[in-house]
Amino acid sequence: MRLTAVFTGAAAAAALLAAGATAHAADTPLRDLAAAKGKVIGTAVTGSKLTGTYGDIAGAQFNSLTPGNAMKWETVEPSRGTFNWAEADQIVAFAQAHNQQVRGHTLVWHSQNPGWLANGSWTPTELSGLLQNHITTEVTRYKGKLAAWDVVNEAFNEDGTYRSTLWYNGLGSDYIAQALTWAHAADPSAKLYINDYNVEGVNAKSTALYNLVKSLKARGVPIDGVGLQAHLILGQVPSTFQQNIQRFADLGVDVAVTELDIRMQLPSTDAKLTQQAADYKTVMDACVAVTRCVGVTVWGFTDSDSWIPDVFDGYGAATPYDENYAPKPAYRAIATSLGGTSTPPTGACTATYSVVSQWNSGFTGQVRIACSGASLSSWKVGWTYGAGQQISQAWNATCTQSGATVSCSNASYNGTVADGGSVTFGFNASWSGSNPVPTVTLG
Ligand code: XIL
Repeated sequence: MRLTAVFTGAAAAAALLAAGATAHAADTPLRDLAAAKGKVIGTAVTGSKLTGTYGDIAGAQFNSLTPGNAMKWETVEPSRGTFNWAEADQIVAFAQAHNQQVRGHTLVWHSQNPGWLANGSWTPTELSGLLQNHITTEVTRYKGKLAAWDVVNEAFNEDGTYRSTLWYNGLGSDYIAQALTWAHAADPSAKLYINDYNVEGVNAKSTALYNLVKSLKARGVPIDGVGLQAHLILGQVPSTFQQNIQRFADLGVDVAVTELDIRMQLPSTDAKLTQQAADYKTVMDACVAVTRCVGVTVWGFTDSDSWIPDVFDGYGAATPYDENYAPKPAYRAIATSLGGTSTPPTGACTATYSVVSQWNSGFTGQVRIACSGASLSSWKVGWTYGAGQQISQAWNATCTQSGATVSCSNASYNGTVADGGSVTFGFNASWSGSNPVPTVTLG
């Protein structure tokens, strides 16, 4: 059973309710729910963090991993001809040990290229050779081990024209077809994707992507899927999201939501987290509804491993777990969409501290212990006074105070708190200067 504490006081009349939406150990892991629906539920990961709680959650909850940075060109070939596969290898090994897929990310991009490449001046032939080598080397290294590759990343501008990049400027738009062809030659079993952001709804950019995929298919270029990154803003899931997924599916390609996060202006509030859960559910439901939507990958599963605060000033809290690995309402929304039972935690007992009356040197306080969906056969409540308050007398409980630390336990006759019932005890205490309400724990 889970115990949460509620605190009220004369000064702070409103109760602060400790969030009860924690996942139970008994909850079915997201990956099992997803597997039962034939879907992928993935997360981007940082290799160096794959131990302890981070590793436990990554391994237990997700059936697919995407290296957040480890397979990018600047990571794998920081100087020309010098390769560093350490983090990528580590992530692939972790995935294999945990029976997870890996989504390779990413082979051709304008960003996170090493300086020697980005700042070099290359003839088209040289550039084409460099790209072919890079793709062949990296895809061959992981041949047979990866489910999919985000081959080309972020090729379009918002208006649907091609983005001016090293690749487009040097090789023309056909660098995309060539990259796919080289990747397919190196690993015919990996599903090959084009990935982009702001292509979640029907708009000029997603339509350009749609037209490209259509023409690649018509030419027989190996293209298996479209990746919708889905770096979304709270309350702004495009209304045409599912329709857009469906139109790509109807072209005969798979669709993956590859980098889902839903950012909010900080600080987060309960209302924002509730909205975020609704948004996550909308995204998940859309993917679940379309057969060719293979699944959803979140871009980091914990707010402690999210790119958002670094890149979007004042925004954060974008992932399904908070910085301390507590599941947020968004976690439960994902589970619900994947067919998990949406029952909230089974119940809780709470302790509420309040000041009943106060005079110049003393006050009378009370603590109410109430249970809903849970019950107690004995109880113990504790708190630490922050301003020198001192208890002199208690009733309906046995209280001891040592220094600032107060501990109260039930009397012989009121240890039982039934489901839906409550017990109250009271005390007198002295104060001077101020009388702040302490944080109470029930345990
Ligand atoms: C981000 C990483 O998460 C950050 O750690 C890094 O500093 C910048 O790149 N679209 C993509 C991802 O395709 O590769 C990006 O990842 C986020 C936007």
